[in-house]
Amino acid sequence: MPKPSARSVAAPASPIRRLYPLAVEAKKRGKKVYHLNIGQPDIPTPEAFMRGVREAKVEVLDYAPSPGIPEAIEAVVRYYGECGLQVTKEEVLITIGGSEGITFALTIACDPGDQVLVPQPFYPNYLGYARLTNVEIVPITTSRADGFHLPPRQEIEALISPRTKAILFSHPGNPTGVVYTRKELEMIVELALKRDLFIISDEVYREFVYDGTHTSLLSFPEVRDRVILVDSISKRLSACGARVGALVSHNRDVMAAAMKCATIRLSAPTFEQLGLVAFMADPDHQKVVQEMIGEYHRRRDLFCSLLREIPGITFRVPEGAFYVMMGLPVEDAEAFIRWMLTDYPGTETVMLAPGAGFYVTPGLGKDEARAAYVLKEESLRRACAVLADGLSQFSRLPAAQAAERG
Ligand SMILES: Cc1ncc(COP(=O)(O)O)c(C=O)c1O
Repeated sequence: MPKPSARSVAAPASPIRRLYPLAVEAKKRGKKVYHLNIGQPDIPTPEAFMRGVREAKVEVLDYAPSPGIPEAIEAVVRYYGECGLQVTKEEVLITIGGSEGITFALTIACDPGDQVLVPQPFYPNYLGYARLTNVEIVPITTSRADGFHLPPRQEIEALISPRTKAILFSHPGNPTGVVYTRKELEMIVELALKRDLFIISDEVYREFVYDGTHTSLLSFPEVRDRVILVDSISKRLSACGARVGALVSHNRDVMAAAMKCATIRLSAPTFEQLGLVAFMADPDHQKVVQEMIGEYHRRRDLFCSLLREIPGITFRVPEGAFYVMMGLPVEDAEAFIRWMLTDYPGTETVMLAPGAGFYVTPGLGKDEARAAYVLKEESLRRACAVLADGLSQFSRLPAAQAAERG
């Protein structure tokens, strides 16, 4: 019988979804599960967007133009203008979510066997896309103690080889919540210039910044031709199911290659592009996003204050996105997370994402877990109470039993 290819077999299953069947089983047993494991915003998608989808005048649902519907591209250009970033229509490609933008960016920046530097812990799907495109991720290890900020330049430079073609990162960071300072970004820019690298900047959380300011990589004129920006409306418009994003670059060759990739996959979803057009036409659209960010800011503050009360949990307050990568007072965070889903007594439980899945280096992140504070205030309070109780009960299990449960 023919076998699936080695690269498809090597593609990792998402660690965020891997334990999902245990949550389904727990729910079948009547448990309420607080999902802190997945970055799926719970805030209603803006009404203007939904109206645009509902009222779209579409008689034949044909292929949209490969680069995107012209009005959607114009809406994206306008959006960047509002962010203080000047881009032209030719420099924007509408993609099927940020996910497609990442695959296109890796495909354009790298040939099979090339390397890309990625600060770890990182968004796990980067590893999936890298495996599927036969690109090797070389991790730049960052630590919880430093708030996951970048190590000194020499440490990063030492990782660069003749096969290194790009540096890829999410900014603000998933799972770390890190927002890089201007100095850190300048260091990346200098390295890219000196060592001839592309910078793949994944800015899908651009507005989700609570401390400091976000500087887009598109704003550095020195690397105009090196930056490939990945963007998405999934988080910003609480529209993960829309599957609409953008790839942006001032580099003409990059855009020509991106357009070829776009032609191969034909088109991005029509209705959701029209939803975006309607959203951008709403005079209140900026206010709508700002209100949502305000809600996440309050949740971040509340969630961090609740976590501080839980004995043994260690973390640095994240500056952005909507995640906290925390150290748990257990040897094996995944064993604890499984136990919470299979054996924790009572009517409620909490699901976290095991930290190890956010690292490519074996052994790292074993005592860490990522929480996404995408729940309403009352649920965050309950989730933290359950988490505190779960940790306390787990710590009293005989070691052998805890390991076996895991
Ligand atoms: C850092 C980062 N980049 C990209 C994506 C993918 O987003 P999309 O839904 O637009 O494909 C996500 C989704 O969680 C993410 O966290």
